[in-house]
Amino acid sequence: MSARTGVGIIGAGTISDEYLSNLTRFPSIEVRFIADLDEERAAAQAAKWGVAASGSTAELLADPEIEIVVNLTIPAVHVEVAKQVVAAGKHVWGEKPYALDRESARELFDAARAAGVRVAVAPDTFLGPGLQTALRTVRGGAIGTPTSGLALFQTPGPESWHPSPEFLFAQGAGPMFDVGPYYLTTLVQVFGGVKRVSATGTKSRETRVIGSGPKAGTEFPVEVPTHINALIEFEAGGSALATFSFDSQLRHTVVEIEGTEGAAAFPDPNTFEGDTLVYRPGQEEPERIEAGEARSTRGTGLAEMAEAIREGRRERVPGELALHVLDVMVSISEAIDSGQPVDVASSVEPSPALDPAWDPTAA
Ligand SMILES: NC(=O)c1ccc[n+]([C@@H]2O[C@H](COP(=O)([O-])OP(=O)(O)OC[C@H]3O[C@@H](n4cnc5c(N)ncnc54)[C@H](O)[C@@H]3O)[C@@H](O)[C@H]2O)c1
Repeated sequence: MSARTGVGIIGAGTISDEYLSNLTRFPSIEVRFIADLDEERAAAQAAKWGVAASGSTAELLADPEIEIVVNLTIPAVHVEVAKQVVAAGKHVWGEKPYALDRESARELFDAARAAGVRVAVAPDTFLGPGLQTALRTVRGGAIGTPTSGLALFQTPGPESWHPSPEFLFAQGAGPMFDVGPYYLTTLVQVFGGVKRVSATGTKSRETRVIGSGPKAGTEFPVEVPTHINALIEFEAGGSALATFSFDSQLRHTVVEIEGTEGAAAFPDPNTFEGDTLVYRPGQEEPERIEAGEARSTRGTGLAEMAEAIREGRRERVPGELALHVLDVMVSISEAIDSGQPVDVASSVEPSPALDPAWDPTAA
């Protein structure tokens, strides 16, 4: 086994730059190949980031030195692509969501288990100093026992800046499947597994218009609810209110946790940085718990997973976590459609804290 973990990337789109800027700096990782349906796009990214080879997914999978494949394709093909990787005997680190439905997610999970490989899925933002500090603060008892959470993600929608936003408004996307994983994963890290959800969902308009890039001005259909309100109940007690919206001119990114002895305002769960504010009875001003700068962003979970594989332990962003979050999102969709609360069958434990000194950019 080489000293570094060989990695291949499938999907050379918008988010691949952020991954490559991190993975090419991690001393434990060697990015060996970039694949995309659009092979010219893959070649351009390989040239930009000094990756030796690019081409098709089949060529990538034929490289025996690649142990982990990063799946940065669009959500509709996450499972199809991940299954090919698993069939080639390689581990997957994927972008969220895990899948678009429970059945295909379970098939992928079982296939990985049978093949003895791991399928882990973003978000890994909670490994950053921002959320790690927030979680350490709450787990350390700063607000007593957490009793309720508030998670708000409200924007006018990504079609103004994303050059190919159609997939974000298609079945299996929308604000909840696109951004919900950051908020729901954070809530699960605080409260543990979700037991039941209730929800409403609405859509402000039937079509949207692309605002940037070569397709600017093109109208496309909105297939999913674009404003979702959910009530989330946790197995261990406690509940949370969550709003996921592409319909709001009022931009909000909020994660707040109320506890028996105080309250905590978390940093934006779609980032790796940000301080935590702790509100205690009798104190006029909150205490600011500084998190410091993140040494790395997207791809951090892959570095931690590569280490976990070598050490023969479970990774901190395991497939079971993304699978549970997917189950919660599908359950919220079902609650919207049925108008009834939906029980969530799957479960997961919060992940152990990271050593604050852990640094994937250090040798
Ligand atoms: N754009 C962001 O800011 C952002 C942030 C966080 C996470 N993500 C997630 O990253 C993933 C990719 O998003 P993006 O914005 O980079 O999308 P994108 O459309 O810009 O890029 C996707 C790329 O995947 C390729 N692709 C699609 N199907 C393929 C297949 N079957 N085989 C090989 N290549 C294929 C496409 O050709 C394209 O180059 C999504 O799951 C998204 O939720 C995106």
